[in-house]
Amino acid sequence: MKAAIYTSYGPPDVVHIAEVEKPAPKDDEVLIKVRAASVNPLDWRLMKGKPRAVGIMARLLKMPIGRPGVDFAGEVEAVGSKVTQFKPGDPVFGGCRGAFAEYATTREKSIVTKPDSITFEQAASINVAGLTALQGLRDKGKLQAGQKVLVNGAAGGVGTFAIQIAKSFGAEVTGVCSARNLEMVKSIGADTVIDYTKKDFTNLPQRYDLILECVGNKSFSACRRVLNPNGKLVLVGGPHDPSTIGLLALPIKALGSSLFSDRKVVMFIAKSSQDDLTLLGELIATGKLEPVIDRCYSFNEVPDAVRHVEEGHAQGKVIIDVAAAPSG
Ligand SMILES: NC(=O)c1ccc[n+]([C@@H]2O[C@H](COP(=O)([O-])OP(=O)(O)OC[C@H]3O[C@@H](n4cnc5c(N)ncnc54)[C@H](OP(=O)(O)O)[C@@H]3O)[C@@H](O)[C@H]2O)c1
Repeated sequence: MKAAIYTSYGPPDVVHIAEVEKPAPKDDEVLIKVRAASVNPLDWRLMKGKPRAVGIMARLLKMPIGRPGVDFAGEVEAVGSKVTQFKPGDPVFGGCRGAFAEYATTREKSIVTKPDSITFEQAASINVAGLTALQGLRDKGKLQAGQKVLVNGAAGGVGTFAIQIAKSFGAEVTGVCSARNLEMVKSIGADTVIDYTKKDFTNLPQRYDLILECVGNKSFSACRRVLNPNGKLVLVGGPHDPSTIGLLALPIKALGSSLFSDRKVVMFIAKSSQDDLTLLGELIATGKLEPVIDRCYSFNEVPDAVRHVEEGHAQGKVIIDVAAAPSG
């Protein structure tokens, strides 16, 4: 089968399409025929292999190195002997290792059934960005109806899910993005939009109960100024090119300065959850949530797709149409 692989660390050019052995599912795994996949910053961060702390963390967490892609939608091709929830032919979506490939294996608890009314491209956009937005707002941010929430990085993969989910919770939503995305972010539900090239939200008079920080460019001490008493900063994103020390210092500094404040900072890494994937799929199927798709790349354009996300200005999610795999 064909798969996107890289054998040395570096920029997205290190990825190429190669012929590799088709994987076989273990007892508790499902073999997926991938139809579409989506790109996350995680893909280029792992590919870069820098700082080394990222690579070490990835190995400890058993993240995919050398085989990019963690979000997919496709059809079940075969199931392991202990799999009970799925059978060959079922349309599914969720998380796997090496999603930029014709076939991938994954544990059955990492996937759910795809509703008929949503496309494979939409379903492929959900896993990391949708789970992060939902869990960041609901579980870490404890967002309540009527609260004021600001999403920094509102036009990206996580941000476009977060704006819509926050709105559906009945919150008053502010999105921060650049001028070219102001209309798009408004159109998906933001009550107020701030162009970060003109204004710094941490210097404005507005106050928020929750800030979902998806860019990694605002410190807790800056955000604290615009948080209401008992307000929360949920840290989702990290700096584009962090040093190992910078990476380690970030949470320590933030947690340290929130110890003596009634405003709190929460760091988190989204967790795989069948319940949450099902909920996100249903919200999309019922028209309450619509994934924002920047662009669909063909399978042989994987390096371009990853490079586009690495440049840091994707509008919503970037999709790879794996079903149209190159022949030969
Ligand atoms: N903690 C977790 O579990 C978790 C999960 C997923 C992602 N992440 C991290 O969260 C971050 C966001 O992920 P993502 O998938 O949303 O990334 P993404 O899709 O690549 O985000 C791109 C967006 O960032 C916006 N942006 C760039 N500079 C900005 C600035 N200075 N102010 C405001 N917006 C800015 C861009 O908007 P403009 O084009 O308008 O500039 C663009 O729409 C990444 O750092 C990622 O590694 C963490």
